[in-house]
Amino acid sequence: MDSEKKIIFSGIQPSGSLTLGNYIGALRNWSKLQEDYSCYFCVVDLHAITVRQDPAMLRKRCMDTLCLFIASGIDPVENTIFFQSHVSAHAELSWVLSCNTYFGELGRMIQFKEKSQKHSENVNAGLFTYPVLMAADILLYQADLVPVGADQKQHLEIARDLAVRFNNAYSETFKVPEPFISGVGSRIMSLADPTSKMSKSDANENGYILMLDEPDVIARKIKRAVTDSDGVIAYDESRPGIYNLINIMSACSGITPEQIVDTYEGKGYGDFKMAVADSVIACLEPLQKRYNEIRNDKTFINEVMARGDEKAAKAAYKTLNKVYKKVGFAPKSL
Ligand code: TRP
Repeated sequence: MDSEKKIIFSGIQPSGSLTLGNYIGALRNWSKLQEDYSCYFCVVDLHAITVRQDPAMLRKRCMDTLCLFIASGIDPVENTIFFQSHVSAHAELSWVLSCNTYFGELGRMIQFKEKSQKHSENVNAGLFTYPVLMAADILLYQADLVPVGADQKQHLEIARDLAVRFNNAYSETFKVPEPFISGVGSRIMSLADPTSKMSKSDANENGYILMLDEPDVIARKIKRAVTDSDGVIAYDESRPGIYNLINIMSACSGITPEQIVDTYEGKGYGDFKMAVADSVIACLEPLQKRYNEIRNDKTFINEVMARGDEKAAKAAYKTLNKVYKKVGFAPKSL
């Protein structure tokens, strides 16, 4: 029965604490896919070290991220949730694929260009080959669909190109994945600069709301959110500050942007921001409660890890073994 379901793969880097943007744009939607798809959700820790990480902090964030997956409603039995570094096939397939990837095509990646500017002191080879590892993540599981944000589309294109290229060179091996656009929820933008995406790696902590922020912190950050001097609440894309706050409130409360405008038209930004904050706090409260229940439950977490790693490894090595055979490596004796 399971094998009839289409396969979904997605990942989040444990490179910072997860934000409201991660929840609304990804995790919350992922939790709705579990009935209809066979889902692999991965904490992509190998990707995270393309930027220097503090080891103790990374270790903590890896665990936090796994627990936030579960707290967001992703059932660890129905889905396969796991750490990328626990399944060495990711690194192994990445090598084979990198021998089939051109320097030029990686050099065109917008994210590489941006990240190498931002981290100009550490433009390492991993940052450059990052999309190859991402392709390995996806292709190992024969994923049909990959939920990604707009900023990852170019990387998904490379994954598709590599699948086709390998299949043509060595015969049919990989499923060619499609992007999965869920259609729900708009992009959540930074509170400090509403023209750029809310990001967990933003240096300005007033730009993002963390999934685990306390209510008073959420209220304070929203109060400080950049708006404009028009003083009118309208759903207008050319006024990114207010537009973003309306989107946030709509996503958190389920009320449409039009209804929100109807209710707050003519009211001051102060009142409106308070209402936005209330909706965010209410939306995150059950999740935070669940997180606090499981975060220190070592037995539970170990069980989740063991199950996820095993399920992932089984699927991944099946593909990797095929790949090794097709490229001509000698068969293993065991
Ligand atoms: N690069 C993705 C991001 O930063 C994370 C990621 C890694 C990913 N591997 C993936 C997403 C595979 C989807 C599928 O958002």
